[in-house]
Amino acid sequence: MKKDKKEHALNFETPFQYAPAPESTAPVKLKERYALFIDGKFQAPSKGIYLPSINPATEETLALVAVADESDVNKAVKAAANAYKGVWGKLPGKERAKYIYRIARILQERAREFAILETMNGGKPIRESRDIDIPLAAAHFFYYAGWADKLDYAFPGRKAQALGVAGQIIPWNFPLLMAAWKIAPALATGNTVVLKPAETTPLTALLLAELIQEADLPPGVVNIITGAGETGAAIVRHPLVNKIAFTGSTEVGKLIQRSLAGTDKRYTLELGGKAANIIFEDAALDQAVEGIINAIFFNQGHVCCAGSRLFVQESVADQVMRKLRDRMSTLRIGDPLDKNTDIGAINSKEQLQKIQGLVKKGIAEGGDMYQADCSIPKKGFWFKPTLFTGVSASSTIVKEEIFGPVLSIQTFRTADEVIEKANNTPYGLSGGVWTDKGSKIFKVSKQLKAGVVWANTYNKFDPTSPFGGYKESGLGREGGLHGLAPYVHLV
Ligand code: NAI
Ligand code: MG
Repeated sequence: MKKDKKEHALNFETPFQYAPAPESTAPVKLKERYALFIDGKFQAPSKGIYLPSINPATEETLALVAVADESDVNKAVKAAANAYKGVWGKLPGKERAKYIYRIARILQERAREFAILETMNGGKPIRESRDIDIPLAAAHFFYYAGWADKLDYAFPGRKAQALGVAGQIIPWNFPLLMAAWKIAPALATGNTVVLKPAETTPLTALLLAELIQEADLPPGVVNIITGAGETGAAIVRHPLVNKIAFTGSTEVGKLIQRSLAGTDKRYTLELGGKAANIIFEDAALDQAVEGIINAIFFNQGHVCCAGSRLFVQESVADQVMRKLRDRMSTLRIGDPLDKNTDIGAINSKEQLQKIQGLVKKGIAEGGDMYQADCSIPKKGFWFKPTLFTGVSASSTIVKEEIFGPVLSIQTFRTADEVIEKANNTPYGLSGGVWTDKGSKIFKVSKQLKAGVVWANTYNKFDPTSPFGGYKESGLGREGGLHGLAPYVHLV
């Protein structure tokens, strides 16, 4: 290792020194406790139970957050059903659009506050919450506001009818963005909403509830209730819920599918992934290395579409490995609120333990591990950027979604071989292809069984573009025109 470092010393022997550049937390005004947002008001949970929500970078409690039980879920669903029948279901599209545009504009105005809170509650670098999560969330509201009065053009010759109440359950990796992905198309198509954020990251959804009050949405159109898996399950089985939109683990996705079998509830599931990121020898390698870094280390690797299985063509494998290790040595891990931080905190202790467990297994099964040489803070949950070589299709860490900053690397010789290897997974959410040849992009991307394939880039998102998986990565699409369909009956 030492020798390798010397040989390719470049400038990395003495890394650049950055002065601290902390973002201020002053714009965020946290309440001591957060109740449930039902029927336009914050209401105490029926059993009076509140649990702490922490900052994973410091382990400090940020606020207490209500736990909704079955009766609270019932209250929220009834409020949504009444709002659908009484107001929202009758409003013309152009009136619904005004409210959604208003949400989008206020979100932009308050973007800094949302970004800081997202980083405090979830551990992601402020650079990402500020430049990606919050602007993209606002963009989704803008985009779907535009469709609200144009559904006749979205479905030519058909009439799009709302379904009623949408129950929406979201994960902790992109808390506000996932709320926007779910709420915006539901409202645009005339449905009302009961949304449950993940138990570790409820705070930006609750701030969104305050924003929704400020936007003066009719009471009950959007209800935001907090709690863990049981709260989610109660939403799924409630008889007045007409559609379920879920993003999270494949395990829970399967539970939901079972619980919905035999009902007429519609559903979309956006589940796990284990994407292949494929580097051909003719790719622009420096660019590809940036792409590899972004594909696996963006958001600490807590990304369902992360490029977690890297395939490098054998002829350039040594060169790519060297460049990759050099680039990793410049990654800055630490305080997520520091504007120079690249890699923040792991979202929760549970997730850290899951990552540690899988990495241990990777070593036990004979994989060669390489970790960036960096120090990590004493408090909080952290995991160093990690590479594995010497692994194969049967290795646990190649098969299972780790959902952390851990990349497994394999080589290949031909396009047909890598297509076969890439598709050898129960998942099918995303993929990446890096090559100078357009024809190769088409050949490979057409044969990858994945919902999204990026060419010479990775992790690019846009509200106009549909997103979703094949196989155990789920079903249905979110985003774009496709994202409207799961929220309507076409007659
Ligand atoms: P999870 O699937 O348990 O949680 C996601 C959401 O579902 C949360 O809001 C949770 O409260 C809710 N939920 C849990 N059990 C439920 C049930 N029985 N019925 C209805 N809702 C329920 O994911 P978890 O446990 O946080 O993470 C475990 C693993 O799942 C991660 O390590 C990762 O591999 C994967 N994951 C994938 C995500 C993705 O975007 N594809 C997002 C989050 C986790
Ligand atoms: Mg779980």
